[in-house]
Amino acid sequence: MAINPPVDATQTPAWAQLQQHFNDLQSQGINLRRWFDDDPERTAKLTFEAGDLHFDLSKNLIQPQTLTLLAQLAKEVRLDERIEQMFTGVHINNTEDRAVLHTALRRPASEQGELIVDGQDVVKDVRETLQRIYDFADQVRTGQWRGVSGKRIETVVNIGIGGSDLGPVMVYEALKPYADAGITARYISNIDPNDLAEKTRDLDPETTLFVIVSKTFSTLETLTNAREARAWLLDQLQAKRAIDGSDASRAQAVKQHFVAVSTALDKVEAFGIDPANAFGFWNWVGGRYSVDSAVGTSLAIVFGPTRFEEFLKGFHAIDTYYRTTPFERNVVALMGLMNVWYVNFFGAHSHAVLPYDQYLHRFPAYLQQLTMESNGKSVRWDGTPVTTQTGEIFWGEPGTNGQHAFYQLIHQGTRLIPADFIAFANTPNPAKDGDQDVHELFLANYFAQTKALAFGKTADEVRSEGTPEAIVPARVFTGNRPTTSIFGEALTPYSLGELIALYEHITLTEGSVWGVDSFDQWGVELGKKLAQEITPAISKDDAALAAQDQSTKSLIAFYRAHRH
Ligand code: F6P
Repeated sequence: MAINPPVDATQTPAWAQLQQHFNDLQSQGINLRRWFDDDPERTAKLTFEAGDLHFDLSKNLIQPQTLTLLAQLAKEVRLDERIEQMFTGVHINNTEDRAVLHTALRRPASEQGELIVDGQDVVKDVRETLQRIYDFADQVRTGQWRGVSGKRIETVVNIGIGGSDLGPVMVYEALKPYADAGITARYISNIDPNDLAEKTRDLDPETTLFVIVSKTFSTLETLTNAREARAWLLDQLQAKRAIDGSDASRAQAVKQHFVAVSTALDKVEAFGIDPANAFGFWNWVGGRYSVDSAVGTSLAIVFGPTRFEEFLKGFHAIDTYYRTTPFERNVVALMGLMNVWYVNFFGAHSHAVLPYDQYLHRFPAYLQQLTMESNGKSVRWDGTPVTTQTGEIFWGEPGTNGQHAFYQLIHQGTRLIPADFIAFANTPNPAKDGDQDVHELFLANYFAQTKALAFGKTADEVRSEGTPEAIVPARVFTGNRPTTSIFGEALTPYSLGELIALYEHITLTEGSVWGVDSFDQWGVELGKKLAQEITPAISKDDAALAAQDQSTKSLIAFYRAHRH
């Protein structure tokens, strides 16, 4: 089914009304202190629940009317149509002519109705693959699957990059307290040999399983690292006399220590991995939307199939909410629309994501690929130029670390930086400092930061503390710095699935307003191709060197002069 050209959001009546509304708010003065004073119900009106997550939007630079107008914008750009097309397998990734069906990865088999896409029963395929992964994970977890010398697997090393790395490593870090089979994981992504060297230095080859994850199985970094890992494994096993070095023993070692995840199973076999130990996924899963597919095999091994199922259920709860809740009350869509409000009306360039949970320390990095590879686009899905700014920079670090690093700029800098604060009521590591519950001390910071950002500190308040007049300006906080507080009961496989799905759908919402294909990534191709062309020029091919531009030539000359 051909998709309609995007609606130009900037030409809709809702956009004009939003512009007018923005101008009105500016002329009346945006003032969160006053807005809270004027409306005792403000927080109640701007608080939402989705799945088991709680969202307080009241410290944003919005009035309830803003959300009404943003919901109207969503309707006028036909966001509902795009959501439905995504869920039903229409090829909305039109520059690659692909369906976008990551939501099918977590659709329960029990849900009514088949989902036949391009002649394929998608949910059936997903469940069959999941079952194979779960069977394999159970074998590794119970010790039925062993290394070539008969030892149990103790370490899983995931080799992949981009979506084949960032999701799994983020989830592994986030759910560490749930690892219950005595198996740890490591993640190698960078082609910089330092990454592999450091991650294999103290590794026991006899107890290590490599999971090579690549959707295309042609990514330079991943295949180079996979070959290096294979050489490392065979050398080490031979040095330990765990194999005798014959071709047969080497092939057997690869079979027992390497599995793969890919859509290109022929290439997996050519690499030497037994197709019986390869787990497939489909071209309708984008790399950055794939952590809940076979790409999460390392997670199914470390945390077990039951936890992985809970993880999928969390995604599905938010999927259902997003698909079925009217935009006026749909906090998932509204968060995406608020981002549009900040980018296009306030001119925000970036968006901070600040988890108050150390286990989520890789979450901002994961979100960078999800959001920026998706919406960093200058043309719309019909090939015409975008009509407004797109794709803000997502960034962040866990609190409280960030407070002692970059929060200064958020509090007192000249730029508006909307921020999402994420926290959980419970910790798996309760601690006391004397009588003080340390998690409560931590949460006090989560509450305090959004309060300080919203309400600031006036010059009079600063003076009343006896501050010398000369330094009063430096100690004033203007406030009116927007934040969204996301609160959950505990960081679990379920709530983590919810959080990921939340940001996936925020990304779709923003991309739909801007009219971009949030599922292609042509922008990463040119650099890859040039690296291939430049490689021979670096060390030996003088003709290839001569063909380079003057700056590249000069840099390579520096390299040749300084290499040891
Ligand atoms: O960086 C481009 C990209 O294609 C990402 O979208 C993807 O997640 C990553 O490379 C890895 O690709 P693959 O899984 O095919 O190795």
